[in-house]
Amino acid sequence: MQVLIRDYRSEDLAQILQLWEQTTVVDSGGRGLAVEQAIRLLSDERAIVLLADMDGRLVGAVLAALSPVTAWIYRLSLLPAGADEQAIAERLLEQLEARVALTGTRTLAAVIDEREQLAGYLRQRGYRGSDELRYFERDLLPPTAPTGVLLELGGQLIGPGLWDALKGMEEAKEIIERRVILPLSEPELAGRHGVVPPRAIVLFGPPGTGKTTFAKGIASRLGWPFVEVLPAELAAEGAERQAKLLADAFGRILELASAVVFVDEVEDLAATRHEERRVTPSITNEFLKQIPRLRDAPHHLLVCATNWVARLDPAFLRPGRFDYVLPVGPPNADARRPIWRRYIEEITDEEVDLEALVRASELFTPADIEFAARKAAQRAFEREHFQRERHRARTEDFLVAIADTKPTLTAEMVSGFDDDTDRFARF
Ligand SMILES: Nc1ncnc2c1ncn2[C@@H]1O[C@H](COP(=O)(O)OP(=O)(O)OP(=O)(O)O)[C@@H](O)[C@H]1O
Ligand SMILES: [Mg+2]
Repeated sequence: MQVLIRDYRSEDLAQILQLWEQTTVVDSGGRGLAVEQAIRLLSDERAIVLLADMDGRLVGAVLAALSPVTAWIYRLSLLPAGADEQAIAERLLEQLEARVALTGTRTLAAVIDEREQLAGYLRQRGYRGSDELRYFERDLLPPTAPTGVLLELGGQLIGPGLWDALKGMEEAKEIIERRVILPLSEPELAGRHGVVPPRAIVLFGPPGTGKTTFAKGIASRLGWPFVEVLPAELAAEGAERQAKLLADAFGRILELASAVVFVDEVEDLAATRHEERRVTPSITNEFLKQIPRLRDAPHHLLVCATNWVARLDPAFLRPGRFDYVLPVGPPNADARRPIWRRYIEEITDEEVDLEALVRASELFTPADIEFAARKAAQRAFEREHFQRERHRARTEDFLVAIADTKPTLTAEMVSGFDDDTDRFARF
């Protein structure tokens, strides 16, 4: 039987999972890696994953990760194969060592239980154990508040819930899932097909339709921090200083390991008619210079938003600069339904005629729906306070609140948006 030692490829995932299931894995560290962590490590650029392939069947695997000084072996798994097992372990380690040495890293280490068989393999290959060293570890909670550069930049960390809370934007969400999240989570497979994940996108749509929320949702889905850049805020500075401040801000952003970088009201920078721009040409030029820098950073996504896509300079929107131009439109009935449902669930336990609310709220943006829902809640609260009627908001409260709310959208805005979508959307 020939055993081939080769690199892991993403289509080996099912097999390697199976191997991990069948073998007593030797994990590095006290409690070792959880399977999700190991899967994440598989596609990390710092990982080295070698497989022992016996005629198409995996009989062993080693998972290691590089760091500038010491590379660590995280998992060595071997299918019981009698005497061969030792030989396979030897060959996996030998190739791993050669690979690590090539990167300039000078030490390869593993933290393992002395009683494990791997300890024997390592000793035989000349790894020195230590009697004095003790292994220490501590659990780190995910950061809940920005620190360091992120704090200075006024950035935010957005919990994973926001993406799911975004209702009725299924098409835009699906585009992001497929074209942004998927290539980022499967870089190897994407790379083999020449798929390059987008680096910059534009969102356009009428006010209150959820552009900002959607940009935050992307940060939430990716688990990247959210940083907003406000070029118009630099307007008070002198022309030369403005450009420098903007360049500095982008420099700081690039110090972050990853970020969703949000620029709202981008027409202030890129309107065709220069008198509609709220910033000086030096800011616009600097911004255009910074976009390619950001595009070169694989873990930074630029999201620009505008209510006025038709006013943007067409050259600004060109494909080499922005990968997608996505409409974020007025919610139709199917989109309004889940948005209403979300607020109804939060506000009341009474039976509410959802369809009546959906019908009554044409031309409402998600922001209008939220506003009307809060108004209904206030109405129920006041009723209990003043009249001692002990029940939460009912259909009627919502309908009164809807009648009392001026919709943001007009029929012209909706048809204008449809035209804009025909003319400018690109995805
Ligand atoms: N799909 C959605 N589901 C639920 N709530 C939403 C949704 N979209 C937006 N909202 C709510 O509507 C409000 C307005 O959304 P947002 O500020 O993102 O709109 P916008 O398009 O950025 O508006 P503007 O053009 O005025 O900047 C927010 O409070 C947000 O929570
Ligand atoms: Mg906004």
